[in-house]
Amino acid sequence: MKKDLLTLRDISRDDLENIFELATKLKRERGEVSYTPLAGKSIGLIFAKSSTRTRVSFEVGVGELGGRPLYLDQSKMQVGRGETIADTANVLSRYLHGIVIRTFSHAGVEELARVATIPVINALTDEFHPCQIIADLLTIKEYSGRVDRSVRLAFYGDGRSNIANSLILAAKLTGMELVISSPEGVEPDEKLIGGASNILWEKDPVKAASGVDYFYTDVWVSMGFEEERAERMKIFTPYQVNSRLFESAKKDAKFLHCLPAHRGEEVSADVMDSPRSIVFDEAENRLHVQKAIMSLLF
Ligand code: CP
Ligand code: NVA
Repeated sequence: MKKDLLTLRDISRDDLENIFELATKLKRERGEVSYTPLAGKSIGLIFAKSSTRTRVSFEVGVGELGGRPLYLDQSKMQVGRGETIADTANVLSRYLHGIVIRTFSHAGVEELARVATIPVINALTDEFHPCQIIADLLTIKEYSGRVDRSVRLAFYGDGRSNIANSLILAAKLTGMELVISSPEGVEPDEKLIGGASNILWEKDPVKAASGVDYFYTDVWVSMGFEEERAERMKIFTPYQVNSRLFESAKKDAKFLHCLPAHRGEEVSADVMDSPRSIVFDEAENRLHVQKAIMSLLF
């Protein structure tokens, strides 16, 4: 593994398999076998945005691995009052053994990681959310037995969100078929796709559902984009994941969502609460996958 995990570009297919293997073992042995590779280590968890899953799973995860988690509200740190990212990275590297950060600017996290001498894990930026997507891939592996070209996943909504961007990198890493269904203007980033033939943009939401194994959606208004709410509600309405779409999909197609979900917006309540929905397995896997990543990096 590289020093940092900022996007899925930082891991190889072998790294991904190692994360799956360790996460699966930690999941199976949770509460039974003690495994404390972070004993004596302190991990800073810097948050500039709201969080339920990420904060709790990282805090619990660090504790279960024997380490000490320090929750740091970025708005209360001096970096919010003009201290540079580089100075912050230098100082934190003298105290901590690893940093997990959720913030706005991806370039800011890259700078933090470049200067810090300790590993940095991206826990969501405006552009990428790698830990989420690795947990999603493990969930797919658990249900389908594999994550490769035999799996077809359709993402509905903002084709330029941190989730869509991360799914694109996941499709490049694993070869799975990815269809992104979004309106024009928020279609997926061509540069990120880089000509990969297993990644398609399909404006028509019904066509995009054809032969799908997994539907995936995310909020229409990501954190930091609240001012665009009214416009976004209008353009994304035809891209709601609802039971009508499942008619075109594979018979046992499943529903994924990074959560938090807004029933009646990006997903209908009947799909969200149906047996097809595996969103809580997905959320649980955040804990196991992040424990594996932290064991390997910190
Ligand atoms: N999926 C996810 O990252 O959830 P939180 O925003 O609650 O951390
Ligand atoms: N795209 C969402 C993901 C939340 C986990 C956001 O950034 O708010």
